[in-house]
Amino acid sequence: MKIYAVTSNQGKLREFRSVLGPLGFEVEHSDEDCDEIQADTLREVVIGCLAQLKGRGIGDLIIDDSGLFIDALKGFPGVYSAYALKTLGLQGALKLMEGVDDRGARFECCIGATIGGEDIIVTGRCDGTIALAPSGTEGFGFDPVFIPSGHSQTFAEISIEEKNSISHRGRALQAFSDELRRRKE
Ligand code: IMP
Repeated sequence: MKIYAVTSNQGKLREFRSVLGPLGFEVEHSDEDCDEIQADTLREVVIGCLAQLKGRGIGDLIIDDSGLFIDALKGFPGVYSAYALKTLGLQGALKLMEGVDDRGARFECCIGATIGGEDIIVTGRCDGTIALAPSGTEGFGFDPVFIPSGHSQTFAEISIEEKNSISHRGRALQAFSDELRRRKE
């Protein structure tokens, strides 16, 4: 089935296609966008965005709001991840972690979709640590500084398939596909 990905992030779009393509989805890019509401959780942002898009009569769409939550920074940048990356950059984020022993962090992803008039909202999470220095050229955003638990390489040093098999977004997309299948049964 055809599904429209509402995102300006090419990295997210590539990952949507990589996971959903083999599951039988044709992922088309949509130029629509929504005003991200100021909210404390990814889910609230997704719900607000879905409502705006549905209000414009757009259907069969998928959106993603995600962020990096760093333990030692009390969850910052979290819902402000896109803004933090734009203003601080990777080096700025690493500077906030200078001399910090607790490198624990997690990525969270909330996927929202409207399919045939029905909403689906699912989440995914990936725990890991913040590297001491950026490494790798794959992926996007904070990938060069995030080492998933049980691995020694950053997200930016592994293939998109490997990232999707363990990442917050890969898990949320899998949950989305499972939920869609369950509703069809
Ligand atoms: P938003 O979901 O568009 O609000 O922004 C999420 C921001 O979090 C992105 O701009 C990235 O900086 C970061 N982010 C989310 N998911 C990932 C990921 O899979 N890898 C690296 N950075 C990510």
